[in-house]
Amino acid sequence: MNQRPLAAVVLAAGKGKRMRSPLPKVLLEACGRPLVIHVLEALGALRARPTVLVHGHGGALVKEALKEREVVFAHQEEQLGTGHAVQCALPALQGFVGDVVVLCGDTPLLTGEVLSALVADHREKRRALTVLSAELEDPGSLGRIVRGAGDALERIVEFKDAAREPAIRAIREINTGVMVIDAALLPGALARLSADNAQREYYLTDVPGLLLADGRRADVFRTADAGAALGVNTPRELAHAARLLRRRTVGGLMDAGVVVEDPETTLVDSGVEVGEGTILYPFTYLAKGARIGRSCRIGPFASVGEGTVLGAGAVVGPFVDARRCLLDPGAAVVGHALLRDLALGAGASLGAGTMAPGPASGGGRAVVGEGARIGAGAILEAPVTVGDRAVLPPGAVPGREGEALSGERNHG
Ligand code: UD1
Ligand code: CA
Repeated sequence: MNQRPLAAVVLAAGKGKRMRSPLPKVLLEACGRPLVIHVLEALGALRARPTVLVHGHGGALVKEALKEREVVFAHQEEQLGTGHAVQCALPALQGFVGDVVVLCGDTPLLTGEVLSALVADHREKRRALTVLSAELEDPGSLGRIVRGAGDALERIVEFKDAAREPAIRAIREINTGVMVIDAALLPGALARLSADNAQREYYLTDVPGLLLADGRRADVFRTADAGAALGVNTPRELAHAARLLRRRTVGGLMDAGVVVEDPETTLVDSGVEVGEGTILYPFTYLAKGARIGRSCRIGPFASVGEGTVLGAGAVVGPFVDARRCLLDPGAAVVGHALLRDLALGAGASLGAGTMAPGPASGGGRAVVGEGARIGAGAILEAPVTVGDRAVLPPGAVPGREGEALSGERNHG
């Protein structure tokens, strides 16, 4: 592939009215990750520099959420349309020569593969502009791709502007909202947009028609991955997108040698790593920040998350809720346990009903040494340390006054 420079513009200024959320839409999470982060992860494959993010509603929150990303921010004061939004990004693209990928911040199913294929096709065909399209069973109110002679792109028509054109509304090929455009042509084309349409907006989707009228090469690249077209606008769509994302994640784990007994009830947040040979029993939730080693067994009905790390062969039984826990290889939690800020040494075991509620204040952890065996119903109040190979009877509260101790207290 020829190495023409690539920049990106992510449109995220819309309010997301239909979400009715106080948060800007792109910050709502699917599978433990804000929508816009899913988009930036997919974009990562392209190494687009700069990546300009156009924000408007809740801009400060969006900036805060993305402060660790290599993103340049552009502000769109008033949401006058997608074309206007791209115009707001132009100052940040000053001096850039190459192609610009424009995409929306609310399409979490977009993948690096689809984006790479789009850019490769755009370059191979030496176009000025390429639109990413998809054919949908139910194209809803998405923009329609109108093809003319020889099946070539003629223009994009917004659903609302086709109220009197049933033939256009019947088209099932839609604009995903992703386009690649030669940066040199962008300012001129955007300056010529008019808001003379049903929504009184400056549509980015009028740019292809304008460039074609100029005699430039503009066409469509159609993807078979319908996920690329899934923009999230409502809570229902958010749940649907999250389900599809989760399916993809769980499918990927199975391909990598993780045994998932019931993929439909196994919830795994995006980015969670699970080692091969691990078995996930039904109704297990691996939340963001969990890291699971090889040959572990988790569930059924277990929730493991937020910085919890399981070493090889660790076992987390039914109805365990673990956050910020470290289980060394071969450590086991029998079941029905609430665990916070706990470190369990190699081969150690916790009986059923163990409570480790985490430090009341100030920090510290509950530490259980290698090979220790804690009886059912123990309470481990942080900070506390139970020694290696200690054996505690059922109901023990190590460290508490008068309690027979096989472990030792640690005021760390
Ligand atoms: C847009 C496309 C439509 C396409 C669909 C794909 C236009 C005119 N229409 O429609 O052809 O099928 O996306 O999902 O482009 N935004 C801004 N500033 C604005 C307006 C929008 O930043 O002034 C952002 C939104 O935050 C959102 C994205 O642009 O991330 C798309 O806007 P939205 O209003 O959802 O576009 P659609 O009407 O769905
Ligand atoms: Ca709109």
